[in-house]
Amino acid sequence: MSSLQPCSPVLSAAVAPGLDLRAEILRLKRERRAVILAHNYQDKAIQEIADFVGDSLGLAYRAKETSAEVIVFCGVHFMAETAKIVNPGRVVVLPDKDAGCSLEQSCPAEALQAYLEKHADKDFYVIAYINCSGGVKALSDCICTSGNAVKMVQAAPAGRNILFVPDANLGSWVMEQTGRPMELWQGSCYVHVEFTRDSILRIREQYPEAPVVAHPECPFAVRLLADEVCSTEKMVEYCQNHPSQQFIIATESGMLHRLRRECPGKEFIPGPTEHCACADCRYMKLNTLEKLYRCLRDLEPRVEMPEELRQRAEKPILRMLELSR
Ligand code: 13P
Ligand code: SF4
Repeated sequence: MSSLQPCSPVLSAAVAPGLDLRAEILRLKRERRAVILAHNYQDKAIQEIADFVGDSLGLAYRAKETSAEVIVFCGVHFMAETAKIVNPGRVVVLPDKDAGCSLEQSCPAEALQAYLEKHADKDFYVIAYINCSGGVKALSDCICTSGNAVKMVQAAPAGRNILFVPDANLGSWVMEQTGRPMELWQGSCYVHVEFTRDSILRIREQYPEAPVVAHPECPFAVRLLADEVCSTEKMVEYCQNHPSQQFIIATESGMLHRLRRECPGKEFIPGPTEHCACADCRYMKLNTLEKLYRCLRDLEPRVEMPEELRQRAEKPILRMLELSR
């Protein structure tokens, strides 16, 4: 007798074989009065079907302003949670509830709370990178994204001690830009720390004319080699306006789809890491067209949070959105 197990009945019943996923997603989107928001790191197929593709900041604005009844967030959990925090009247779903983030995991709310209590004498002004949980946002004074972190730190009250959480690389880049000292939480993005000086030098030898564009979550040695360090959205602007026809992109691989779409005719070379020809975020890549279809069909998994926590987390996000305009 064969030892092969039959296919999971749940999965095979979930999506009928031969279903035109694209057409079904568009039909369900209309039926549910939904909007599909996708981060720049999503797969090509998801980016192409989304109503809006952007960075964390652009997506937060879209989520806040949308009048759609359902927000389908193709990104990672903290992004979908941010959408729920700023627009609680909407149903917010994400294709895969396990789409986490190593930065979020590096700073549990309980650990931050304990740190703030232990160092109460420093009366920290807490600036939290948006890549964190709602619990961490609720303990913070202001949120920032990679697109506005410099501005948010410059806007912090003079004379206050700043604690910047959770990304130490973004935090040190902001200190370099602003000259403002900050205490840094020692979190990191497991994807961006894989870019190294050697991996970037090697690719630059092959493409000596191509500017290197890096995300500020990259380590110091990589940022030093880069011609431009910026958020994913600003990468689009930089590559559109720069006369070069080739660029080396040191960030997650999904960004290359966005750049190829926005800058037709230009060539984008993925920045390699020590181990791979390009960098994939395993959390971002959990989302697929099939899961997007299922979450629109079932309106699950949903993002929910206690109202009291939501209200506390909303304040520092609104501060950021106002200061960022
Ligand atoms: P951006 O806001 O620049 O898109 O970055 C989000 C992120 O998760 C980077 O790893
Ligand atoms: Fe988080 Fe890094 Fe993935 Fe961005 S790329 S979502 S920071 S793990």
